[in-house]
Amino acid sequence: MLAPLIRCAALFAAGAALLAACTGRQSAPTETADQFVARVNREMTGLSRELNETGWIQATYITADSQSLSARALDRYLAYFSSAVKASRAYDGQQLSPQTARALQKLRLGVSAPAPEDPAKRAELTRLSTRLEATYGEAKFCVDGADHPDSCKGVDDLGEILATTRDYARLEKIWTGWHDQGAQMREDYARFIGLANEGAKELGFADLGAMWRSGYDMPADEFTAVAEKLWNQVKPLYEALHCYAGAKLAAKYGADKVKAGEPIPAHLFGNMWAQQWNRIYDDILMPYPSVRVESADRALKAQHWDAVRMTKSAESFYTSLGFQTLPASFWERSMLVRPRDREVVCHASAWDIDTQDDVRIKMCMKQTEEDLFTIYHELGHVYYYLSYKTLPYLFQDGAHDGFHEAIGDTVNLSVTPAYLTQIGLARAAKPSREAVLNAQMKLAAEKIAFLPFGKVVDEWRWKVFSGEIKPADYNRSWWELRRKYQGIAPPVVRDETQFDAGAKYHVPGNTPYTRYFLSFILQFQLHKALCDAAGFKGPLHECSVFGSKEAGAKFQQMLAAGASEPWQDTLEKLTGKREMDAAVIIEYFQPLMQWLAEQNKGRSCGWT
Ligand code: ASP
Ligand code: SER
Ligand code: ZN
Repeated sequence: MLAPLIRCAALFAAGAALLAACTGRQSAPTETADQFVARVNREMTGLSRELNETGWIQATYITADSQSLSARALDRYLAYFSSAVKASRAYDGQQLSPQTARALQKLRLGVSAPAPEDPAKRAELTRLSTRLEATYGEAKFCVDGADHPDSCKGVDDLGEILATTRDYARLEKIWTGWHDQGAQMREDYARFIGLANEGAKELGFADLGAMWRSGYDMPADEFTAVAEKLWNQVKPLYEALHCYAGAKLAAKYGADKVKAGEPIPAHLFGNMWAQQWNRIYDDILMPYPSVRVESADRALKAQHWDAVRMTKSAESFYTSLGFQTLPASFWERSMLVRPRDREVVCHASAWDIDTQDDVRIKMCMKQTEEDLFTIYHELGHVYYYLSYKTLPYLFQDGAHDGFHEAIGDTVNLSVTPAYLTQIGLARAAKPSREAVLNAQMKLAAEKIAFLPFGKVVDEWRWKVFSGEIKPADYNRSWWELRRKYQGIAPPVVRDETQFDAGAKYHVPGNTPYTRYFLSFILQFQLHKALCDAAGFKGPLHECSVFGSKEAGAKFQQMLAAGASEPWQDTLEKLTGKREMDAAVIIEYFQPLMQWLAEQNKGRSCGWT
């Protein structure tokens, strides 16, 4: 993900003059719209640092002090934001150049949780937001009980245990132990959402969900329909994979545990949220074990790849496309592994501290192929930051947030088995139909399995924000939606004393999630376009653009445009199309889908 909240900056260092200008009296503005936008760009550039620097310290060194400092920086930023948005209303109805109109529009959507104008409420919101992030970061489950402090583990370690354990009861224990951590965030979350909703309404949105849905260069309702259309396109792929996975898991854990025609227990997929299933590929999902190629996990350990080497590997992919090497400060200031002596937020993120060259990664990397892919993903954000750093502040963003998430994943689609062989992390597979199906299954376990989860998180939050879901129903509604979309169920009874949505980082972190759903579809479109640019001929799943300066040039051009134009224009320049479309991902997985259709014959697919 991107760094939470921190995209725009703090204000008021500029002092009283700005404050006066921003109180939003609707009298005739004293400056032209262009002057106003130029000033906001300047001030936000200058002020963004404080928020990012304090946010960085709060996430990499969780203490009462770092929280308090970061909450105060956020408070100043949100105050500036509200005032600037209000002041921008003075230009409503004026004839503006498209660039100026776009800058004002970007300004109005610049935060993921706007505060109410009342300073006391704003301070409460910033405290809650900081505390939620810290609580998630500090949360631990003590596997052997609280009197064994060494067994108390955060989500990074618990996730790794879940990924590598195959004992039903132990999996249930780990899964439950982590999910129970959500409960302590339940009340804070309800209050936080109430305040952010109030802020969104003051800005003229129906609720916070409507604000989030407004960031896509089309009316919010139209966007809802686009997301729905994309989901319906890919649903059959997911259902086929779900059916196959259910049969495999039943064979592994017993038909009494994984019942045909019913939702699958959520703790069996090798991932805490059952959002990506690649960790059970090797021993459960692989179609043809006789032609197995091991994942890179073992090679990474055997060859002593540490976090720096893994990051260098990602960097070398980008430089092979023509991107610059990372600045020295990146290596000095990033946090690549979990520090042993302090609390941190381990969820991986990429930071743009000063809108120039101070870019960083915060991550608790392990020697796994999964984390190798994640660091390739995070560097996608970093290269986006570096590519658009010359744009005005308000345009220093992704074409839309799904683009930002898609850059590194697009690169990852070029991390083919052949590429992994090339960098010494895999053994070459003899080309065969079986090898292709194995590789497709592995990727589907990551990309197709994710799609319903990518949809469900905000489906739930949109309803929470609109009031359709009340706090008293948080957990019931969460599991209803997860059952409906993912076809999974909790392994044990959950109730309203718990808060299972809170066990997923992006909920307490208040990071919108539809961006990932969009990214997982979009990245296939982008990959295809890059492969075309590289002159690749052949089936798309064999394409790697590693080393292609032609593909790199097109990619760079897209990244350099940032958010300066409607994303439809950006997409068209790269792909020739103005719409997000699942056709490419569907075509990509044709071999697997045909195979799954045969495999699933006679099975009772779906769930009640
Ligand atoms: N890049 C991931 C995400 O965007 C981070 C992770 O998987 O840890 O949230
Ligand atoms: N990185 C996102 C997450 O962790 C999507 O894969 O949820
Ligand atoms: Zn990301």
